[in-house]
Formats: sequence, C-alpha cells, structure tokens
Amino acid sequence: MNTVRKAEKKDVKGIVKRENVCFSTPETEESIYSFLKSKTFFVDVIEDEGIVTGHCIYFFVPDNAEIISLAVTPEKRRMGYGRDLVYNVIERAKENNCKEVYLEVRKSNEAAISLYTSIGFHQVGERKNLYSKPEEDGLIMQYLI
Ligand SMILES: CC(C)(COP(=O)(O)OP(=O)(O)OC[C@H]1O[C@@H](n2cnc3c(N)ncnc32)[C@H](O)[C@@H]1OP(=O)(O)O)[C@@H](O)C(=O)NCCC(=O)NCCS
Repeated sequence: MNTVRKAEKKDVKGIVKRENVCFSTPETEESIYSFLKSKTFFVDVIEDEGIVTGHCIYFFVPDNAEIISLAVTPEKRRMGYGRDLVYNVIERAKENNCKEVYLEVRKSNEAAISLYTSIGFHQVGERKNLYSKPEEDGLIMQYLI
C-alpha cells in the first residue's frame, strides 16, 4: 500500500540521490535539510511496503501552494506514485484554505505535463529561458481548488 508521509532526516540521502538522477539542477543535501527545518517548505516522500519511491517539495503562501520538485525513482515510474504525491499536495492545500496550486515545468517534459494535465492542472503562463542545463522555456501550470 502507498503511504505519503513527511520526510525525515533518514530520508535525506535518498531524496538527494533521486534529485541527482532526475534533474540537471538538483536540490542539494543542504537545501533539503533546510526545507525539513522550514515552516514554509514541506518535503513529503511516498513509500510502498517500506520502500521510498518518490518525493515532492512544496510551499504555501497565503491563498496558494507551489510545487517546486516532484520526482519518482526511474524504475518505479508509471505506478501512480507521482499522481499520489500531487494529490496529497492538493489535499494539504485544501486544508490550508488555498485557492490554487502552481508549478513550473520544462516545456519538453511530456511525462510531467501529461501527469499534471490528467490531474486537472492547466497552463496559465510561460517563462522564457526559465531553466538552465539545458536552457529551456518553462510552462506555468495551475490547479484551481
Ligand atoms: C513526472 C514523474 C514525476 C511522473 O511520475 P510517475 O509516478 O511515473 O507518474 P504516475 O505513474 O503517477 O502517472 C500518472 C499519469 O501521468 C501520465 N504520465 C506519467 N508518465 C508519463 C509518461 N512518461 N508519458 C505519458 N504520460 C505519462 C499518465 O497519464 C499517467 O497515468 P497512466 O499511467 O494511468 O497512463 C516522473 O516521470 C519523474 O520523476 N520524472 C523526472 C522528474 C520530473 O520531470 N519531475 C517533474 C518536474 S516538473
């Protein structure tokens, strides 16, 4: 059974490893530790039978939530872990009386765009050269609660 829970210190090395596998500009061990201590940022992991398969980093500001990282271990993809992590952020956003959830995604990231669209996110903007390594435009997507 899948469980989404708050990340703990014991999860940090695995999160950093997944960040490095999934992104060209990954979060560092230092940044993950600072997120764990933060009252604004949240780090969740999803586990299945005790094995952590993905993580999500997000924050709340008045009225909305923003996802800054979502990653699933490559050999565990297309099993619903990414979707469950995003659903969990939406649930938490509802509890915090947020009106929207935002995220940014590389224009070429078909897997992520397809996941977000299947959940109900819509493109509301585009930012030129938002990403580096390689340079690429980013789409801004919004989920209305
Ligand atoms: C994007 C990512 C998080 C998706 O995680 P996942 O656990 O594989 O996604 P899920 O299994 O929950 O997929 C849910 C739905 O999203 C869509 N989807 C996910 N991966 C897809 C792919 N490679 N191609 C097309 N659609 C895809 C499908 O509609 C899928 O439903 P289905 O499997 O029933 O067809 C994962 O591919 C990943 O970690 N990628 C690298 C990091 C990344 O790009 N993160 C997002 C940054 S914005």
